[in-house]
Amino acid sequence: MLFKPIIRSTLFHTSDKDPEIAHHWVIDRLAFASRHGVLLKIIEAANAYKSSSLERTIFGVRFPNPVGLAGGFDKNGLALPALAALGFGFLEAGTVTRYRQAGNDRPRIFRFSEDSALINRMGFPNDGADEISERLSRLPKPAIPVGWSIGKSKVTPQEEAIEDYLYSLRKLYEFADFFTVNVSSPNTPGLRKLQEKEPLDQLLRAIVQEAEVLARQTGRNTATPVLVKISPDLTEGQIDDVIEVCLDCNVRGIIATNTTLSRKGLHKCTIEIGGLSGRPIYPCALAIVQYLCKKLDGKIPVVGVGGIFGPDDAQRMFDAGASLIQIYTSFIYEGPGIIKQINKTLATTGETPAAKRE
Ligand SMILES: Cc1cc2nc3c(=O)[nH]c(=O)nc-3n(C[C@H](O)[C@H](O)[C@H](O)COP(=O)(O)O)c2cc1C
Repeated sequence: MLFKPIIRSTLFHTSDKDPEIAHHWVIDRLAFASRHGVLLKIIEAANAYKSSSLERTIFGVRFPNPVGLAGGFDKNGLALPALAALGFGFLEAGTVTRYRQAGNDRPRIFRFSEDSALINRMGFPNDGADEISERLSRLPKPAIPVGWSIGKSKVTPQEEAIEDYLYSLRKLYEFADFFTVNVSSPNTPGLRKLQEKEPLDQLLRAIVQEAEVLARQTGRNTATPVLVKISPDLTEGQIDDVIEVCLDCNVRGIIATNTTLSRKGLHKCTIEIGGLSGRPIYPCALAIVQYLCKKLDGKIPVVGVGGIFGPDDAQRMFDAGASLIQIYTSFIYEGPGIIKQINKTLATTGETPAAKRE
């Protein structure tokens, strides 16, 4: 109730020139809370909504509810326990790259409040797989599933991309309930070329095989699931290729979608470069989830993400066949209350058809 008039307006006002200031302020507070059990309990009591009807097992992982935080919010995994306490059913941390990198020059996030949208060209700023895994070994693991998104370092040439992803996979393996292979960010030159059939096949095959090797080495019965995250700018033919490769390589799920290069649905003219997220991308993300689910026919699950701003949007993603959903931009505009709002509505009125899959 107090989020929009007080917290959001203060945060937006003080970070008008560079929205990333607000982002770091929030992450710092959540990271602080993550180190203090009492604060976590208070946050959880005020925010989390629990209901056994929301629980589900998807790609072999047990989720307390189907509403996750999308990749890119907690790039370094600094605030995972506090984000879990806010009531998410799972978190996707990262995107992490093999090498520590600064990302693009700031400002690199732009708000379009009238359209509940953001444009970002972050370029994967993160501390790198070594530092992040070292830090994670000293922190308690959150009580909900955490997936790690892995991407290609900017300095790594395209032909060495596979080894770059494998390095991060190995470093983060013990901390992940699933991995997301990010080949769809528009902000790393050449990255989206990895969605093409042949390079995608080589990349995913190598990552899935390595996940199996790591499972054997660490004495696990099953390999940690590997998912792939796709762009909303793919054609149907390109999506068909992705599906074929995923099924061939034993990829366990598809996350649709990342941000778009299109400016459709954005009412304000802008020359800012980067990926658009938020309300304007919902129709496209939903159409892609519908297409994927129809083509996949339940063979592997789909995670729906893009412009979900409330229970109705969430419900339509599930009706389209999504097994889980994720949010990012609505978390910024609506605050943490949106997680409870969606979960409460799903638990009381919603049908989530994929709830019992796998
Ligand atoms: C500032 C910002 C940074 C992002 N960084 C990442 C990232 O590092 N990795 C990733 O897979 N997606 C990233 N995304 C994309 C989101 O995970 C999500 O796919 C996209 O924003 C669409 O969902 P939304 O409309 O709910 O925000 C980022 C999005 C934003 C707004």
